[in-house]
Amino acid sequence: MEISVIGTGYVGLVTGVCLADLGHQVMCIDIDKEKIGTLKQGISPIYEEGLSDLLKKNISNKNLSFTSDYKEGLRGKEVIYIAVGTPQAMDGSADLTYVEKVCKSIARYLENDAIVVTKSTVPVGTNEWIKQTIEGNLQKDIEIKIVSNPEFLRQGSAVYDTYHGDRIVIGSEDAEALNILESINADFSIPIVKTDLRSAEMIKYASNAFLAAKISFINEMANLSERIGANIDHVAAGMGMDKRIGNAFLNAGIGYGGSCFPKDTRAVISIAKEADYEMPILENVVDSNERQRGIIVDKMMSRFERLKNKKVAILGLAFKPETDDIREAPSISVTEKLLEAGAEVCAYDPAARRNAEKVLSNKVAYADSVSEAITEADIAVILTEWKEIKKFPIEDYKKYMKSPIIFDGRNCFTLEEAKDSGAEYHSIGRPV
Ligand code: UGA
Repeated sequence: MEISVIGTGYVGLVTGVCLADLGHQVMCIDIDKEKIGTLKQGISPIYEEGLSDLLKKNISNKNLSFTSDYKEGLRGKEVIYIAVGTPQAMDGSADLTYVEKVCKSIARYLENDAIVVTKSTVPVGTNEWIKQTIEGNLQKDIEIKIVSNPEFLRQGSAVYDTYHGDRIVIGSEDAEALNILESINADFSIPIVKTDLRSAEMIKYASNAFLAAKISFINEMANLSERIGANIDHVAAGMGMDKRIGNAFLNAGIGYGGSCFPKDTRAVISIAKEADYEMPILENVVDSNERQRGIIVDKMMSRFERLKNKKVAILGLAFKPETDDIREAPSISVTEKLLEAGAEVCAYDPAARRNAEKVLSNKVAYADSVSEAITEADIAVILTEWKEIKKFPIEDYKKYMKSPIIFDGRNCFTLEEAKDSGAEYHSIGRPV
């Protein structure tokens, strides 16, 4: 099919590249000319495993092209995906400014009937508003059909998730549009859920909110386990064997971050408020996650009383491994709390340094390796479970630190390893 994808963030770009790889004719549109210039040369602005190869392959076989010109990008297209960002507005709701601009551009430049598919995470009811906004600004007599097709891929495994996701959700009030989307997606060999527009929009928010709640739940169980002498690793393993619970997303830590869970949980609360409904569970999930970010610093405070002039090595800044993204990363608030307490911070992250520098500037020093960061440090704090950080032998900390004291916010080592290493080891939800 003739497809265009608007927005070349990680959702839009991965969608465009994978649809091209299925054999569709895909044109990706982005107003960022510099980005389009780079993409035209086959260079991906983001790192996602496998993306670069697929990008080059589909540019050279002419299934994939890029433009910043809407007129060119929409010409003759039968299906148009909207995949622009919906950041968080000041009041916690989703900011639809970019989506609105896209709708107006579609209305202005589209010259034929088309199906508009929303990939962006948007509040319930937005797809109806998208239809009205496009139709209200159309300059030709053409027909627009709307489909909601929320995205469930994770940053860091976006290409893999596109081909191996658990489900594809498509929602529409138009049976023909649903059938066309079903046939486009059939080649992914993933179960397809067909539903109405509002339910599709809700599935996305409900899924992210549920996963955020699952993380906050296990974090609270971890905090309680510490107090009563249980080990959260064993508790989570035992719980996860119950198929109704499932063993994924039961890793206790310093709280969830990233560009999705924090924004989407707040957006659901805001949608509920508009519907005159309260969501006490979710409100507590948000508060619980906020509290979790401070817990590791509280532990250091109670161990040392004062952190003033203590040398603290931070290991990991990204909100999760395999990404350079620090949006809403717990590391940022942990670092700020340490700085407020007067600590001297030196941070190491295998990929996120450049992004962290933009936020933390020169208030912290940066190291180029785990060993450099912990050299002469009083305390080492693990905030992201990068392979490199997990693999750095715990017994080596004493080679570099005056006296090894580790606060591990991601439970990277077993208690046995910690005990054998001779380091003082504090983790999440396990006895010291
Ligand atoms: C999340 C969802 O997992 C995707 O399905 C969804 O498509 C995406 O949001 C989105 O809405 O676009 P992502 O934000 O890339 O994906 O990251 P996750 O792998 O879900 O991790 C989110 C946060 O939860 C990270 O900070 C991670 O460290 C934390 N986490 C995850 C835990 O603390 N414990 C766990 O057991 C799992």
